[in-house]
Amino acid sequence: MIKIAVMHGPNLNLLGTREPALYGAQTLDDINGSLAQRAVQKGVDIDFFQSNAEVELIHYLHAQPERGTHFLIFNPAAFTHTSVALRDALLAIQLPFIEVHLSNIYKREAFRQHSYFRDIAVGVISGLGAVGYDLALQAAFHYLEV
Ligand code: DQA
Repeated sequence: MIKIAVMHGPNLNLLGTREPALYGAQTLDDINGSLAQRAVQKGVDIDFFQSNAEVELIHYLHAQPERGTHFLIFNPAAFTHTSVALRDALLAIQLPFIEVHLSNIYKREAFRQHSYFRDIAVGVISGLGAVGYDLALQAAFHYLEV
């Protein structure tokens, strides 16, 4: 069975109330629920993880090869712009992934315009809101030929 993992970084647990003009009105449960529904329709196993702690995100990544995960969808949130450790974890596990951002990081503050993941991702989706996650899942299905 094809397995996909969706990982959300810090502060994304606050979606719905966190700066809605920037990040939208949908909660993380809304986003995950929509992805879960699409995965079920395809007969794909999908797992979700959110943490505000870098170390927990690293541990989750390290566990993915053993889980048999084929593909990751990852919004690193603020760690996008800071985390060599998460980049190294992704390089270590060698799993294909799509980097997702709700907001368009390229039209925001200069410090958000650098990503430690963009050159090792299969692709990057930024600025399309919650729809970006659905598009990432669609792209994962295409990549995995399911
Ligand atoms: C974000 C963009 C990041 O710059 C920010 O730190 C986030 C969310 C996004 O989804 O637009 O927390 O990754």
